[in-house]
Amino acid sequence: MSEQAPYLKLSKDQIKFFHENGFIALDHLTTQHEVESLQSIYDDLFARRAGREEGNQFDLTGTDEEGVAPSVPQILSPSRYEPRLAETHLVANAREIVRQLLGEDARDMGDHAILKPPHSPQATPWHQDEAYWDPNMDYNSVSVWVPLQRVTIETGCMWFVPGSHKLEVLRHRSVGNDPRIHALELDEEYDTSTAVACPLPAGGATIHLSRTLHYTGPNNSGAPRRAYIVAFGGTPKARTDGRRFPWNEIKQTAREERLRASENTEA
Ligand code: NI
Repeated sequence: MSEQAPYLKLSKDQIKFFHENGFIALDHLTTQHEVESLQSIYDDLFARRAGREEGNQFDLTGTDEEGVAPSVPQILSPSRYEPRLAETHLVANAREIVRQLLGEDARDMGDHAILKPPHSPQATPWHQDEAYWDPNMDYNSVSVWVPLQRVTIETGCMWFVPGSHKLEVLRHRSVGNDPRIHALELDEEYDTSTAVACPLPAGGATIHLSRTLHYTGPNNSGAPRRAYIVAFGGTPKARTDGRRFPWNEIKQTAREERLRASENTEA
């Protein structure tokens, strides 16, 4: 693979839908051929535990102890470990489409990979991505979420609450109120009964803003559910209202310990 030229554009109606609802689903972001080659790259990264020692591979929804099988393994910046991930039709098309949605100054903000193993009972609870980030900034960012196989309600497709991108960041906490767990969940009542499920073919995509409430269910199938996510954003703006995300101030994850240990080794 080498740097690819984009070949997709959104229609005016699609752009309007995105700004009204805070998300959009696309049946095609890349080719079946590319999806197949990405599957093997993806599986290899998890099999060789790429990034584990420096805290970039960890259990998203569990306590991530050494020697325990992860419930939902995640890799941050997988393209750092496998540069071919960045040289795809997928990324070229995603970047082009995001510029239509956010403006020409939208820049690459990194990638990650979230694997739901076969028969994973673990949902990824309702949350807003901005709840993970710096509370002193306002973001104009999206995540492009690409399943590397067909994904259905039964296997853990994305769900969104239409219009929730217009909310402030709601109160969150670590999953199960356990600060050893990386993943966040909503910590206040919010009516998600209007949520929309987005089943997709392999190589399709959903795109959502950083405040759009979203969720994925368990994987009730015998095959892995691979999601590859690329993020893009305009320049964040500093806030002056002293916003705080206390759920991040009390985090104590094994991932952060490994990150600190690896930084000490390098110093
Ligand atoms: Ni998310």
